[in-house]
Parts: sequence; structure tokens; C-alpha cells
Amino acid sequence: MKEELMERAAALPKVELHLHFEGGAPPAFIRGLAKEKHVDLSGIFNADGSYAYRDFWHFLSVYEAATQVLQTPEDFARLTRAVLEESAASGVIYSETFLSPEFCGGGDVAAWREYLHAIREAADAAERDLGIVLRGIVTPIRHFGPERAKRSALCAAETADDWLVGLGLAGDEKQCKPRDFAYCFDMAREAGLRLTAHAGEWGGPDSVRDAIADLGVERIGHGVRAIEDPALVERIAEDGIVLEVCPGSNVFLGIYPTLARHPIARLRDAGVKVTVSTDDPPFFHTTMKKEYTDLAQTFGWDAETLSDITRTAAEAAFCDAATKESLLKRLETA
Ligand code: ADE
Ligand code: ZN
Repeated sequence: MKEELMERAAALPKVELHLHFEGGAPPAFIRGLAKEKHVDLSGIFNADGSYAYRDFWHFLSVYEAATQVLQTPEDFARLTRAVLEESAASGVIYSETFLSPEFCGGGDVAAWREYLHAIREAADAAERDLGIVLRGIVTPIRHFGPERAKRSALCAAETADDWLVGLGLAGDEKQCKPRDFAYCFDMAREAGLRLTAHAGEWGGPDSVRDAIADLGVERIGHGVRAIEDPALVERIAEDGIVLEVCPGSNVFLGIYPTLARHPIARLRDAGVKVTVSTDDPPFFHTTMKKEYTDLAQTFGWDAETLSDITRTAAEAAFCDAATKESLLKRLETA
């Protein structure tokens, strides 16, 4: 019976809203680029070739070290293909990814346009070949500070369109407050971008409240620690704020000891709009297929429940109405 649930979960079409672009880079891909470019990255890999880090904060520095080999628009075009091949192999038909101008030209708008162009061309090719649709969310990095974030937000505002659809906020949640980035989010909102921010991953319920109040976001990256405050859970449910939940990431990084103890099911039961994503899949030894099958196995979620979560993600996607309609249609007919 469980086997059948898991097989059906694996085969379902999937929608992912929370995927860090460089965090999706397969380690072999990064090693290959390092070899080509004669960059010594040996310190960031385990003997078995996987990424090596001790904890979340070390993960952030390993992540940044890996980006050293992503030096040109062409490198990002190749990364686009590598990431989308992995996602498509898991059955993902639509993905929103966090892009950081910091890693794509250092926050310079003209350079950013070139990177973005290369990524979009590669995404268009992947859409034709693999049937997966990609959209981008510019994501300043919190621990780089508000001034650098403003440069990224400006890149976002200057390139906002039907492909570059949102602004996010990632990085070390313990550094700076959401209000330090209010200027960036105000600029993005003015430019017509949709808004999300990481909160309630390493910070408690207050970090979620602050992201909602100070940044006006309609989605929260993670947000799972809202569970520690029942009044906040009620409010999120009432306001229809969507959580981009990454269960495998949370368990791998030790926020929860096991998936069974993860609050995703309790949040859903409380009426919160939960969605499922991988965050940084090769870093956390996960895939969208694994996320869905693990949820089926742990919570006994059947195809109907998982499809409902996928539909929630499609409805919460930041893409334009026509793209969303065709996405919902693909889910319906699958
Ligand atoms: N950057 C990449 N992955 C992240 C995560 N899970 N939280 C915050 N920043 C990140
Ligand atoms: Zn994340």
C-alpha cells in the first residue's frame, strides 16, 4: 500500500517555488567548471564528491565558494540546463528560482542584463526540450547588507517583466532585520514585482511577523517556525499567505530532527497554504521526487493531497495569468 502511494507520488507533475539557482548546481557540474577554470575548490567537497559543510552557516560559505567558478553568462546558461534537467527528471513542470545579481555581474545592471539574457535563452531551450517552465526571482543576500541589496533590487526593478517576476530575500536570517530591506521591497513593488522573503527558518515567529509587516510579502520562504505561535498560524491562514516549505532542507540542516516531527502537516491542517520545494537540492541530498515520496511515506499523503499542494503552488506562482492558466491545465489533465 505504502509502495503504491510512493510510486504515485513520484510520478505526479510538480511545481516548485523555492529553489536557489546556484544551490541547485550538481557538485559534479561545479567540479567540472573548477577544472576548466583552474580554480581549486577541493576544500568544499567530501571524498564521495558531495558538498562538504558542517552547519547552515558553513553551508552559506561553501555555497559562495562554489559560485567562484560561475564567472560568465555562458556559465550560467550551462547551469540553467544542468538545474532544469534535474528538476524535469523529478517531474517538475514549473519552477521559480532565486537569482542573485551579486553572483551575476556583482550588482551592475548592464552586466546583470547579459547574465539574465543567457539564463533566459537556456531556459527557453529547456522549455522546448524538457517541457519545464522557469521564472526568476531576484534575491538579495541578507548578510551582504542592505546597501548591496539595494543594487540587486535595482537590477530587479530595471528588468522586471513576464520572466523576472519577483523579489526575495535569502541568506543569514540572524543578520539585519526585514525593515533594513524595506526600501528594496518598496522599489520592487513599484516596479510590479511580486514579493517573498525567507523568514521562520532560523528565526522564530517574530521573524515571520516582521517580514509580513515590514516587507509586505505575500509568500514566505520556509515560515515553518510560525507553528510556535498559534495566533500567527491563524493569521497566516486567514490572510492566505503562502509558505514555501522545504521539508528535506529543514531536516537535513537540523531544524527538525525527523520529517515526522516537521510541522508541514500541522500547518496544512490549520488551513495554511503550504507548498513543497527543495531549497538547494544537491546540498541537502534531495530532489522534488524525494520530497513528494518522503511526504507520502511519512504522513500517508495520497496523490490527491499531494496534487492539492501542487495546485496551491501553481496558484501562488508569480507568473502572468496566461502562463498560470496553462500550468493549471497541465496539472488538471495529468
Ligand atoms: N541561501 C541558500 N539556501 C538558503 C536557505 N535555506 N536559507 C537562507 N539562505 C539560503
Ligand atoms: Zn531558501
